[in-house]
Amino acid sequence: MAGLKDKIILITGAAGAIGGAVAAAVQAQGGIAIASDLKAGSGIDVALDVTSEQDWQRVTADIMQKHGRLDGLVNAAGIAVVGTIEKTDFATWWRVLSINLDGTFLGCKYSFPLLRKQGGAIVNLSSVLGLVGSAGLAAYSASKGGVSLLTKSVALNGARYKPPVRANAICPAFIDGAMVDEIAAGARDPQKARENFAGDIPLARLGRPEEVAGLCAYLLSDAAAFITGVDVPIDGGLTAR
Ligand SMILES: NC(=O)c1ccc[n+]([C@@H]2O[C@H](COP(=O)([O-])OP(=O)(O)OC[C@H]3O[C@@H](n4cnc5c(N)ncnc54)[C@H](O)[C@@H]3O)[C@@H](O)[C@H]2O)c1
Repeated sequence: MAGLKDKIILITGAAGAIGGAVAAAVQAQGGIAIASDLKAGSGIDVALDVTSEQDWQRVTADIMQKHGRLDGLVNAAGIAVVGTIEKTDFATWWRVLSINLDGTFLGCKYSFPLLRKQGGAIVNLSSVLGLVGSAGLAAYSASKGGVSLLTKSVALNGARYKPPVRANAICPAFIDGAMVDEIAAGARDPQKARENFAGDIPLARLGRPEEVAGLCAYLLSDAAAFITGVDVPIDGGLTAR
C-alpha cells in the first residue's frame, strides 16, 4: 500500500499503543513518520511535550527547516484519569485538560502554517467519550468533547484554503494497550473490568491499535479528500445503541 507515499506526518504520543501503530502504518504506506513523545530515543525521533508551546515552536520550526512543509498531523498524545465529578480534584482536571485539549489545540495551531503551504490533514484522537458521557471519567470526557468540537472549528477554517487543510476526529472505544490496562488496574478486579469493557461492546472485544491506525492512515490520505470536520467512531458498535 502506498496511500501516504512521501507524505510527511508528525505524530504525538508515538510511544503509546495508538501513536506507535500510526507511525508504523504511515511508514508501511510509504510516508515519512516523525514520531514524537515526551522523550526521544527507542523509535521516537523528537521529544515533544504537547503541553509546551515552546516545544511545538521548536519542533515545527525544525520540520520547516528540514522538509519545508508538513502533510499531516496526528494528535495521539493523551491521558485518562478515572474519577467522577465528585472524585476529581481541580489539579487532576487541569492536568487532563492540559494534555488532551491544550495539547491538541497547540498541535493544530503550530502545525497549521506548515500544513497550509500545500494542503494537508489533521487527525485528532478524540474518543467515544467525546460523543457520549461517562460518569467515571469526568475530566477525560470533557477533554474529548473539546477535542471533537475543536476539530470541527479547525476543519471549517482549513476548508477556506486551496488546497484545503482537512481535520477529522477519531473516536475509539476501548483499545488494547497501556491506557486500558491503567483504567482496569484502578478497579477492584482488573481482569473482570477488562471483560466488562469488552462485554459492553456489541462486537464483544476490545479494539486493536492497528485498526485505529488503519482508519487514521485513510483519513490522512488523499482517498479521504472529501472528508473533513467529522467524528468517526471506531467502537465495535458501542455508540450505535
Ligand atoms: N486506548 C484507548 O482505549 C483509547 C480509547 C479512546 C481514545 N483514546 C485516545 O487515543 C490516544 C492514544 O491512546 P493510547 O491508547 O495510545 O494511549 P497510551 O497511554 O498507550 O499512549 C499515550 C502516549 O501519550 C504520551 N503522552 C502523555 N502525556 C504527554 C505529553 N504531555 N506530551 C507528549 N506525549 C504525552 C505518553 O507518553 C504515551 O506514549 C489518546 O489521546 C487517548 O485518549 C484511547
